[in-house]
Amino acid sequence: MLSIEKYQAVFIDYLQEYSVVKEPENLYNPIQYILSLGGKRLRPVLTLMAAEIFNTDYKNALPAALSIEVFHNFSLVHDDIMDDAPLRRGKETVHKKWNVNTGILSGDAMLIMAYQLFENYEVNTFQALAKLFGKTALEVCEGQQYDVDFETRSDVTIPEYLKMIEYKTAVLVGAAMKMGAIVAGVSEADQNNIYEFGKNLGIAFQLQDDYLDAFGDPETFGKQVGGDIIENKKTYLYLKALEFSNDADKQTLEHLFNGNTADTESKVETAKQLFKSSGSSDATKEAIKEYTAKAFSVLEPLNISEDKKDLLKAFGNYLMNRNT
Ligand code: IPE
Ligand code: IPE
Ligand code: MG
Ligand code: MG
Ligand code: MG
Repeated sequence: MLSIEKYQAVFIDYLQEYSVVKEPENLYNPIQYILSLGGKRLRPVLTLMAAEIFNTDYKNALPAALSIEVFHNFSLVHDDIMDDAPLRRGKETVHKKWNVNTGILSGDAMLIMAYQLFENYEVNTFQALAKLFGKTALEVCEGQQYDVDFETRSDVTIPEYLKMIEYKTAVLVGAAMKMGAIVAGVSEADQNNIYEFGKNLGIAFQLQDDYLDAFGDPETFGKQVGGDIIENKKTYLYLKALEFSNDADKQTLEHLFNGNTADTESKVETAKQLFKSSGSSDATKEAIKEYTAKAFSVLEPLNISEDKKDLLKAFGNYLMNRNT
């Protein structure tokens, strides 16, 4: 097994070989732009790690890992349009640097490219990967639709929120790991265990993403801090703040997240203040720990060495303590 940094490095080498600009440039330039902007590369690293955990050379899993990363980046290009986001990884988003139509079509092309990468595998593996990919990609769309629907709803519940983030984010983390297991050709039971590990880690990951969206450092976060508040996102921070607040604060919050104010700066400040004073920011940190612990407990019955479990746990802890 390699270290997390090593997997990142080998993956980036493979990615660089892959992402070349072809004609028409206005289709492929934005693709190369977003793919080379960086990011943590956590999903492909998990695919490579999963393959090796199940005793297969990570190199066999590189096309699947790339597929997951291309799909992830496609989802970001379209997500940034939907969230009206100006910044991604510290740089302009694709639709701001070019325009919305470019973001739509380059994104579409990336979705197809992601699928095409499975052609690197023989028929049985191809079929298993394609089946998982299709299911996961549709779930991501469902999650994204819930996320958008919730912006204009005032009665969103915590279970609804958890389902939404499971779909928009966690299933892809689970699928990234399961693809490594598929390439390794292990039993379905093992495939499903590693999927569950990834899914729970993915829920913790999205909770942390929501936390950082409000409380991240603008210098390191790489996205617009407060973007979720501006867009009336019904995050765990918001929902728990409602739950913990007295009537007056609850009304303030509901009013704040119920329309479009011109003064976004004071909206963000007031919301953050209430997230803190209500105890919701602490509750969110607790929930992040809980889902990470849940992911770790899924590892217990897995038939792999303690060393390998420790590496997966190290990855989970690294995610929990990130600031970007
Ligand atoms: C951002 O994912 C989208 C979410 C699901 C929260 P990442 O935080 O993994 O983004 P990059 O790839 O590292 O930029
Ligand atoms: C993104 O959720 C989920 C997908 C892209 C499918 P967010 O909207 O929270 O992701 P960021 O914060 O823009 O990266
Ligand atoms: Mg977004
Ligand atoms: Mg979004
Ligand atoms: Mg976010």
